[in-house]
Amino acid sequence: MLVAQLSDVHVGGSRYREELLRTAIEEVNAAEPDLVVIGGDLTDDGYPDQYPLAAQELSALRCPQTVRVPGNHDARNVGYLRYEDAFGARDSRLRLQCAGQDVALVAVDSSKPDLDEGEIGREHYRWIEEGFAGEADLRIFVCHHHLVPVPGTGRERNQVLDAGDVLSLLRQCGVDLVLSGHRHVPYVWPIAGMLLVHSGTVSTLRTRGFPHPAYNLVTVADGRIAVELCIPGGGRQSLGSYPRDWPAELSARDADPFVRAARGVSLADAGPTPPEAEQPHSSRR
Ligand SMILES: [Fe+2]
Ligand SMILES: [Fe+2]
Repeated sequence: MLVAQLSDVHVGGSRYREELLRTAIEEVNAAEPDLVVIGGDLTDDGYPDQYPLAAQELSALRCPQTVRVPGNHDARNVGYLRYEDAFGARDSRLRLQCAGQDVALVAVDSSKPDLDEGEIGREHYRWIEEGFAGEADLRIFVCHHHLVPVPGTGRERNQVLDAGDVLSLLRQCGVDLVLSGHRHVPYVWPIAGMLLVHSGTVSTLRTRGFPHPAYNLVTVADGRIAVELCIPGGGRQSLGSYPRDWPAELSARDADPFVRAARGVSLADAGPTPPEAEQPHSSRR
């Protein structure tokens, strides 16, 4: 199974280069991935003229299954609404058949309007847990912002505000792969039974420690996950090949006493507040 991971397209930005995106898309199409994940920052400012252009360029991707999430740049200037017009829902829970594998995929919009910081949000935890419930050969979580710091990016900032709780939740859900972007540096962190894979910026010169535009090809086969960094029109470099199965004492999937998604109340499920729960607040008024 092959996953193409692109992010940080930044259509409309001053350092956006259309030819890089077109080259990357040609290469991705030639690789014939089973799944394409576009991990946010499709536009540079979320402006009305940038979304149609981004949608038009990305429509050249030929893959039966493409998943997208918005990034912080897409949520600027009320761009989160235009994102929905151009690409549909900002959050998605999917069950996919990829190369004979039953894949559970949950993609969450981690952006907040006009903020660079990201957050998954506790109101999403049960929704995420439900998305990964049941049998699956592979579980993939997608969000734009990073859950752990990425080296080579300068001062650490914008990490998901509830990153610790989200990491714990994903580990308990048995997630195999977390696909993120945002920092414009390709990097892989193996953590607690999961592989956190970050893509660079596919089509801009807004680079940091890794000085080239890049995207990733992620291969899941034979009990391993291999990540290859690809420079559009340029070289390729392995970011490692990792075993799927971690020893239980290292993944420690059931070891966290603090985060219990089942205790959270999904916004969709929230009913009237029980009278007994209101009492303490009422007495303080
Ligand atoms: Fe970006
Ligand atoms: Fe970003």
